[in-house]
Formats: sequence, C-alpha cells, structure tokens
Amino acid sequence: MKNIQTLLLIMVAVFILFSCGKKDGTVEMPKPKKLSEAKKQDPMENWQNNKGIGPVSSITLPAEIDQSMVAAGKEVYESMCTACHKIDKKFIGPSPKGIITRRTPEWIMNMILNPEEMTQKDPIAKQLLIEANGSPMANQNLTEDQARAILEYFRTLDQEKI
Ligand code: HEC
Repeated sequence: MKNIQTLLLIMVAVFILFSCGKKDGTVEMPKPKKLSEAKKQDPMENWQNNKGIGPVSSITLPAEIDQSMVAAGKEVYESMCTACHKIDKKFIGPSPKGIITRRTPEWIMNMILNPEEMTQKDPIAKQLLIEANGSPMANQNLTEDQARAILEYFRTLDQEKI
C-alpha cells in the first residue's frame, strides 16, 4: 500500500513538472529580468545625464568650432596626453576619437581636471578604470581653460572621423 502511494506521489510530481514545461519538454525558465535591469544600470547607457564630478557643472558649446582654441588644445594634448592616449586606437587610456558622442562636455572636462575623484566615484570613470586594468588617468594639473581648449580639439576629432 505504501509503495502504491509513493508511486502515485511520484507520478503526480512528474505530471506537475511536465505541465509547467513547454511542449518540447524544456522547463520554462524565469524571465531574464536581470538582463534588462543590468542594461538600465549600465553607466555607459546613461551618459547623456552624466556631467561627472568636478569644477565644471555646466557649459554650452557654440555651434561653430573655435579654430584658435582647437590649435591651443591640440598643442596641450600633444604634450601632456599622448603618453597614454592615441587618436587612432586604444592605448593606456581610450582613444578620444568621437568622445563627444559618448560623453557630455562637462564630463570630459571633469575627467581631465579631476580624474582621481572621477575614477573613485563616477560610474563611467570607474568602469573605464576597470577596462584600463587599473591604470589610472593622470591628473596633469591643467587649468580650466586648457581643458576647455582640449575639449574643442576633441570636437574636431569627431568631425574628421579619423
Ligand atoms: C598616465 C596615463 C595618462 C595620461 C598622461 C592621460 N590620461 Fe587620460 N586616461 C588614462 C586612462 C588609463 C584612462 C581610463 C580611465 C582610468 O583608467 O583612469 C583615461 C581616460 C581619459 C578620458 C575618458 C575617456 C573616455 O573614453 O571616456 C579622457 C577624456 C582623458 N583620459 C583625457 C586625457 C587628457 C586630455 C590628457 C592630457 C591632459 C590625459 N587624458 C592624460 C590615462 C592617461
């Protein structure tokens, strides 16, 4: 008698298992909710709302590119940044090519002026530090004007699509 009861119990359990499964016999998995949540939390996806952390809270870029600022920015970039950044490829740090299409102007300037705090607290910069295997972006102690000039230079990199 006990054996029959056990057998019945097993049959019921098997039936329940199969009725939850799809027709092809696979058991339905819970929806991959985490994936969409992860996407929402991806700091890179939310770049347009991220101005970074540092002295620059708001700047407006005029539509026209200021060529004398570009020249000044290029000069500073070439002497202070090319040890770690190359235009045409990822080096110790990322290539700045097209950066203005993936970061806000304020974020870029704050990254240049305040990299230590950025890589500790800002979600995008934290991620970049991981991608750079922990080598930190150096603070080159630039003035705000120099950082602004580099930003102007970076705007031309996007246009030229090198
Ligand atoms: C010692 C190497 C080094 C130097 C010098 C350096 N950087 Fe970086 N930079 C990095 C690394 C590495 C990262 C990625 C973040 C990290 O690991 O801290 C980075 C990230 C950046 C980013 C963010 C890139 C992105 O895709 O969002 C910008 C902008 C930047 N650097 C600009 C500059 C500028 C401008 C200079 C010169 C004034 C400069 N860097 C000098 C190493 C350097």
